[in-house]
Amino acid sequence: MSTLTSLQIRDEFPITQACTYLDSAYWGPYPRRSAEAISDYVRKRSTTAFPFGRADQDRVFAGEVRSKIAGLLGVAPEEIWFPRGTTDALGTVAAALLAPGDEILVGGLDHPADYAVWANLAERGIRVKVVPQRGGRMNPEDLERAITAKTRAIGICLVNTYNGYRQSLDALSRIAGEHELYLLLDAIQGIGHLRIDLHKSNVTMMSAGSYKWLCSPEGLGVAYINRDVIGNVVPHNVHFYGIEPESGGWASFIPRILEYGTSGLGPQEIPSGTLNYPASAIRLEISPSIVSLVGLNQMADLLNEFGGMGSVEARVISLSMYLRSVAQEHGHSILSTSDPEHMSGITSVLVPSAPGFAEFAKRRNIHIRERPATPIATDAVRVSPHIFNDKSDIDMLVEALNDYRSSHI
Ligand SMILES: Cc1ncc(COP(=O)(O)O)c(C=O)c1O
Repeated sequence: MSTLTSLQIRDEFPITQACTYLDSAYWGPYPRRSAEAISDYVRKRSTTAFPFGRADQDRVFAGEVRSKIAGLLGVAPEEIWFPRGTTDALGTVAAALLAPGDEILVGGLDHPADYAVWANLAERGIRVKVVPQRGGRMNPEDLERAITAKTRAIGICLVNTYNGYRQSLDALSRIAGEHELYLLLDAIQGIGHLRIDLHKSNVTMMSAGSYKWLCSPEGLGVAYINRDVIGNVVPHNVHFYGIEPESGGWASFIPRILEYGTSGLGPQEIPSGTLNYPASAIRLEISPSIVSLVGLNQMADLLNEFGGMGSVEARVISLSMYLRSVAQEHGHSILSTSDPEHMSGITSVLVPSAPGFAEFAKRRNIHIRERPATPIATDAVRVSPHIFNDKSDIDMLVEALNDYRSSHI
């Protein structure tokens, strides 16, 4: 249950006083408390010396945020790491789990950012097969039919970026389980507004950049990897805080480098096997952006005060249902599914001359995204309310849709 009233949550987001913002699938505005915490952090860092121990202090702080994020997602802190963003984590894990000759099936209606990750795998000799979408959604049966003896993984967007279609994790999980496949999820359009049961769904890994539904600065993401798989992921890039020397902590690297680098010995070879990767997702973490974590930390508190991801999802879905019913009452067509199992906080509304409408709405200080429901369909806008929105925002949007239509008849 939320401890915040509707007015309080609006007050938490200064953007609600500046405009009608219905575009969190594109970019999420920072809560007031994040903006203040980030400003304080930057002020402190620009005016005071950092006492010795900066790295340890940062690691403790990252650990605190990790625990909060793990709590929100219902997983263990050891399963969470902070990458640079969605695709950073997807590419890192896919490249570590798959070998040349292995095959991965990927979604046919996914984001260009995913395409880049998968195409990069193809350059490493991994076979990437794009399974076609049908009518703006991925059918689990199509994915299952495409599996061959070489298939090792499915890589897919949990929530479609164009029309908000939410894949059934139960179906994906069943297929991945029965065929012993890794399930890799781009979850940037879900994490921060949907409740996702990663353990029950047997997801191998998921990642989400922090700058959309998590309303936090760029340069940071939240990533999960199932604890049973962590041991198989040998990162191709490491950071010395993320690996465990046999003893002595990171400082033990100093005598090691001196041992090999002593003058007069000539070039010394570092043998393999001198690094111990911890049995946690931290092995994948490379210097997360601390200033972005300062923001994410505040957003995590806010999501908790809102009652956790179940309450957040309920609020966002109820606003999305309200949008659908009011828009339809006024004769507008909704292109996103209304099947509750596949709904998310993204709704695609058919609007003739959508680019003109986006401009028209902006002049009324209403922000939505001109974005078709599939890359080939035209004339629709994407509407994505978050917890700080309320029905009055939706009413204003629908009024704008009506007025735009009247002015175009
Ligand atoms: C579905 C989806 N995946 C991936 C990305 C890119 O994510 P990142 O910048 O965190 O790698 C985006 C950005 O818009 C997106 O919408």
